Amino acid sequence: MRIGVLTGGGDCPGLNAVIRAVVRKGVGTYGHEFVGFKDGWKGPLEGLTKPLGVEQVRGILPRGGTILGSSRTNPFKIDNGVERIKENLANLGIDALVAIGGEDTLGVATKLDSLGVNVIGVPKTIDNDLNATDFTFGFDTAVNIAMEAIDRLHTTAESHHRVLIVEVMGRHAGWIALHAGLAGGANVILIPEKPFDLEKVVDHVESRFRTNYSPILVVSEGAVPADGDMMTSHNELDAFGHVRLGGIGTWLAEQIEKRTGKEARAVVLGHTQRGGTPTAFDRVLATRFGLNAIDAVHEGDFGKMVALQGTDIVRVPLIEATRELKTVPVERYAESEVLFG
Ligand code: F6P
Repeated sequence: MRIGVLTGGGDCPGLNAVIRAVVRKGVGTYGHEFVGFKDGWKGPLEGLTKPLGVEQVRGILPRGGTILGSSRTNPFKIDNGVERIKENLANLGIDALVAIGGEDTLGVATKLDSLGVNVIGVPKTIDNDLNATDFTFGFDTAVNIAMEAIDRLHTTAESHHRVLIVEVMGRHAGWIALHAGLAGGANVILIPEKPFDLEKVVDHVESRFRTNYSPILVVSEGAVPADGDMMTSHNELDAFGHVRLGGIGTWLAEQIEKRTGKEARAVVLGHTQRGGTPTAFDRVLATRFGLNAIDAVHEGDFGKMVALQGTDIVRVPLIEATRELKTVPVERYAESEVLFG
């Protein structure tokens, strides 16, 4: 078989580990041939390819990013996008596609599957918000990066008697904030799933100072105050039509300083959470996903996404994975709240 591989959406530590596993098993065990598509769905849309074989995947396991490049191109939002993809796949003699991506990339894969394209999905996102899989690779690395930052911020907060606010990624789901906050011993964790009461946050900050302790707050980039009193930039679109986020930490620092008289600083971790080498957990998960994905292709078990359920790698219909986002359940968040008192 001739198999195309692409990586779409925001990059994520572990992408190269998936590509490596797919190609090594695909060539070594099954004797398949591979074509790398550049920059997500833009590759098959514009016929942008690069060689992909055992030589190209040598040494890439620990490397962050993706050797194939990525983009947020969605062929369903482009005139004749789907027809162009089908035509290019046919011209290149591609029998099947392995699409590695998050909600958007796999949403496209789901639709293409229903239009007769042979496709297998591999779930990636540092946000861990894809349904039907317990974890996505990249999440563990992002949480570890954020945890290390929080550990470091505790000592500088104490030295200066300041409030430190760590803003982490997560537009719609607070998994990174929740896990990094718990692992780093944060005093307050704010997530998009539960709009927060600013007054309560302020009270909490003041109570921490009464016990002579400088608080650390972890906030997801998509968290919002309950009364809707948000800085206007929060919902602005950037030049590419994406929602511009990344202001909540700074906004909170301003509000806390104003209301408590204590110095507050915001630290926006941003894309550092997506960069660099994957943790051991992510390398293993990504590799297991890749191995199972190429088995699925070989068996012709298309229209599926590989997933982690418990400790097993299973396959679920793509539609199950993309139907809705996996957000933090209320009770899961509530169990951590007792620590903030
Ligand atoms: O979906 C992954 C993610 O890293 C989100 O956590 C974040 O909101 C978004 O991508 C950032 O996207 P971009 O790199 O396009 O700014």
